[in-house]
Amino acid sequence: MLSKEDFYSMKKNGKAISVVTVYDAAFARMAEAAKIDMLLVGDTAANVMLGMDRTTGISMEAMCIFTNAVKRGAPNSYIISDMPFGSDSEPKAAVQNAKRFVEAGANAVKIEGLPLESLKAIIEEGIDVIGHLGLLPQTAKNFKQVGKSEEEAEKIFEQAKILDTLQPCSIVLEHMPDALGKKISQAINSPTIGIGAGKQTDGQVLVMHDLLKMHPYKLPPFAKCFANFWEAGVNAFCDYKSWVNEK
Ligand code: KIV
Repeated sequence: MLSKEDFYSMKKNGKAISVVTVYDAAFARMAEAAKIDMLLVGDTAANVMLGMDRTTGISMEAMCIFTNAVKRGAPNSYIISDMPFGSDSEPKAAVQNAKRFVEAGANAVKIEGLPLESLKAIIEEGIDVIGHLGLLPQTAKNFKQVGKSEEEAEKIFEQAKILDTLQPCSIVLEHMPDALGKKISQAINSPTIGIGAGKQTDGQVLVMHDLLKMHPYKLPPFAKCFANFWEAGVNAFCDYKSWVNEK
């Protein structure tokens, strides 16, 4: 299994880090077979698995169930669990929740924004942390690109530098101008994982349901599609229905 040190070496040696979200054993098994470097049990599970409008609706309990399933499907992969909204705002609770994820099979936890005391407390417990800056879906008012103004870009850049001093396992950079993704990636030691942050980050992450096109909705502007599971799935169900009707 890869480790934090491996991800830092990959950055140093210019080898891109692949990350994909997974939420269950079947798809985790596929991602492990494809040797994806990190599997993220994202709180996008709220949207893509539970049909909710926002990620804020998901609970620790649900995230632990998804994490456990991913661990069963991909026992040899590096697994990150997303701390759900509110689970990391206070250091003591943050550590307890991070430990629950580790017990469920996670190697690291991901935290949106900069709850500094919680981040430090979790790292002090010896648990790997992934940062998440730029567009923060848990608290965003809308899902537009952030960091377009000089002032906002500078704020995100400063946050990245602060986070870098904690030596996190990596930092997700979401939906920001390519130039800002590049600037941050070049200025800090921590590996950066982009989603809509250009091609110059140290790695990329995509939501599985976008990557495989598992839904009929419009994809986010930065998502890239590598299959059409929606079409294949609907066709297979139609064929099945015809087969049943014919008998
Ligand atoms: O929850 C998630 O899927 C994420 C990715 C968008 C990075 O945080």
